[in-house]
Parts: sequence; C-alpha cells; structure tokens
Amino acid sequence: MNILVTGGAGFIGSHTLIELYKAGHSAVVVDNLCNSSQESLRRVAAIVGIEHIPFCQVDIRDRDGLSHVFDAHHFDACIHFAGLKAVGESVEKPWEYYDNNISGTLVLLDVMRQHGCKNIIFSSSATAYGNPQQIPITEQCPKGQCSNPYGWTKSMLEQVMSDMQKADPDWNVVLLRYFNPIGAHPSGLIGEDPNGIPNNLMPYITQVAVGKRPQLGVFGNDYDTPDGTGVRDYIHVVDLARGHVAALKKIGQGSGLSVYNLGTGHGYSVLEVVHAFERVNGVSVPYVIKPRRAGDIATCYSDPSKALDELGWRAQYGIEDMCRDSWNWQRNNPDGYR
Ligand code: NAD
Ligand code: UD1
Repeated sequence: MNILVTGGAGFIGSHTLIELYKAGHSAVVVDNLCNSSQESLRRVAAIVGIEHIPFCQVDIRDRDGLSHVFDAHHFDACIHFAGLKAVGESVEKPWEYYDNNISGTLVLLDVMRQHGCKNIIFSSSATAYGNPQQIPITEQCPKGQCSNPYGWTKSMLEQVMSDMQKADPDWNVVLLRYFNPIGAHPSGLIGEDPNGIPNNLMPYITQVAVGKRPQLGVFGNDYDTPDGTGVRDYIHVVDLARGHVAALKKIGQGSGLSVYNLGTGHGYSVLEVVHAFERVNGVSVPYVIKPRRAGDIATCYSDPSKALDELGWRAQYGIEDMCRDSWNWQRNNPDGYR
C-alpha cells in the first residue's frame, strides 16, 4: 500500500516508516518539522536502503498544501502521527494544542474524504482512559477525565473519527492507544530527540546517564505501588511501529471502527526502570525523590490481548532491550539529530 504518514519525521513516525518499508509498503511523509528534523528521514532512507523518503514540508492545517499532496499521490491509507504532545506545554498553551491537533486533524480528514481516501490509523494514547477504572486496562474500560488539554485532544479526536465512521461506513478507522513508548531503533541511528528539558522518564534518564543533567527527579515514592513509585507499561518503539503495520493489514480488510491498546501488558515502576537501565548499560543514574507530579496516576498498564487476537500483534521486546536501545541512541547521538 502507499501510505501518507503525517508527522513521519518524528519519534514514532520515523520508526514506523522503517517497518512499513520492510513490510513492502511505500510512504510519503507530511511534516512541518515543528518538533523534528529532516535528518531523521535521511537516516530512515539509509536504514531501509533507498535513496530518499518522499517528503513534503506541509502543516496539516494548510488545506491547500495538503490538497496538493493528495493531488500528486494516490494514498491507500493515512497513518496520522502529526500533533503536539507535551503535556505541560498544553496546560500553558491550550489554544495552540486544540488548534494544531484538532483543527489540523479536521482539515486532514476533510482533504482525505475529498480525495476518496477513507482509511486512517490514529495515534491515540492511554491518557484517554484518564484515571482508569480497572488495571490492566482493556479497551472496554470507559474513557475518563483527562488531566490536560493534550489528553483532551486525543479523546476528542477519537470521538470525531468514531462519529464520522458511524455516519459514513466507507471510513475505516483504527484508534491505537499507545502506552509508554521508549527505546530506539537497534541501529542507534534514529531515536527520540526531545526539545529542551525532557518531560518523559526515559529521555531524562538517558540525559542524566550521558552527563547532560546531574540527576533524575523521581516524582513521588508514596504511591500505592510495590516500591511507591509510579508504574507504567513501557513499550519498545519498534514494537509500537510494527503495531501500525498490523493495523494496516486489518484496515485493508475493511475493518470499520476499531480500537486497540498497544502495550506489553507489564508494568514497571520508575525505580525498576532506573535499575534496569543501570544494570543493562553499566552506567549510573543518580536520582532524588521529588514530590508527585500533578496529574500523574499511580499505575497504568494494558491488557494487550485484543491486539493479539485481532491483529496478530504482540510486543517482542522487554525492558532490557528498551533500556539498551535508548542508551545506544543517546550515547551515539548526545545532541540528537543536531
Ligand atoms: P513527535 O513530536 O516526535 O512527532 C510528531 C511529529 O508531528 C513531529 O515531527 C512534528 O514536527 C509533526 N507535527 C506536529 N504538528 C504538525 C502539524 N500541524 N503539521 C505537520 N506536522 C506536524 O512525537 P511522537 O512521540 O512521534 O508522537 C507521534 C504521535 O503519537 C503524536 O500524535 C503523539 O501525540 C502520539 N503519542 C505519543 C506518545 C509518546 O509517548 N511519544 C504517546 C501516546 C501518543
Ligand atoms: C505522559 C503523559 C501522557 C502521555 C505520555 C507520553 C502526564 C501526566 N502524562 O505519560 O499524557 O501520553 O507521557 O507522552 O504527563 N517520572 C519521573 N521523573 C521524570 C519523568 C517521569 O519520576 O523526570 C515518572 C512519572 O511520574 C511516571 C513515569 O515516570 O510515573 C512515566 O512518566 P512519563 O514518561 O512522563 O509518562 P506518563 O506520565 O505515563
């Protein structure tokens, strides 16, 4: 299939491109590079052994720009990664998040249907469950109250796409709820390249390990968890990327509306991740305990069995692989793509 990959220069998009090409698909990337670099696409091309990845520097809110891309290419489906994702920033700049993520997706969906492309895979998040009513979280678990505008954009966009699919069954919509993607391609050539101070755990750990930051702050050790620190379902980004290829197969069969958790089903605490990272990589990660971070929950991990039953997908990599590959990327690229 020929796939439009919005946000394809970013962390998850770049890893997904590799798995798409490996599975025999082709892709065109649309990205405005607001949180990424074209260097990632050059490296993806090198990994998959092609000259270049077709790329259009377009903002998805730019209707004319996007229409030109659709006029120039035939797409069988879109994998839609483009969006802003920093939780704290979304609290400071809600309008910018609603405009970018919601307006951008509305424009994309409209241009897609005008061009007769009604197959979409959407990057949603476990954040849509809010404070989950059950652990492990199944897709049956009701959506919850999000603690920030970023989360609401995911929750609202799920609703928009579900309603559109209900009104027009020609749409095939796959909502993928990611748990906590970490790790990097085993080549060490591509990985996560956050701007400024990382918000998320793994990029912070790797920056401490490489000496860019003195110590990790562990946000709370008084949660109701085995060691008191927050428990999450970390998933290797290569596994996550393969989940999209599995979802494409499903969409090709006319799947209607479907939603899947992409996680491993295992929860690790912050301190378990720190210790696994130190053990696997032979480096030390100094940390201090800090107060809880607003909006955090104690425990969040998936029941990923629906994706196994219906997509034939399951995560292959474990926490050690994730720690090794995150470090391999950071060590080889201390300044990311710069
Ligand atoms: P990323 O920031 O690395 O990639 C997003 C890409 O979208 C970037 O390359 C950015 O330049 C591009 N982009 C943003 N707004 C755009 C616009 N208006 N027009 C065109 N391009 C635009 O983030 P990521 O970690 O790869 O995440 C990809 C998607 O998955 C996002 O939608 C994110 O919300 C979602 N997600 C990520 C995580 C995570 O932990 N990384 C978890 C759950 C969901
Ligand atoms: C966060 C977002 C979530 C988003 C996801 C992926 C919040 C409240 N949630 O999830 O909406 O989908 O990122 O982008 O921000 N931690 C530390 N020290 C740090 C960083 C994190 O102790 O410096 C802890 C956190 O308290 C948490 C765990 O590590 O227990 C994982 O945090 P993080 O990587 O930010 O992911 P989430 O909070 O699960």
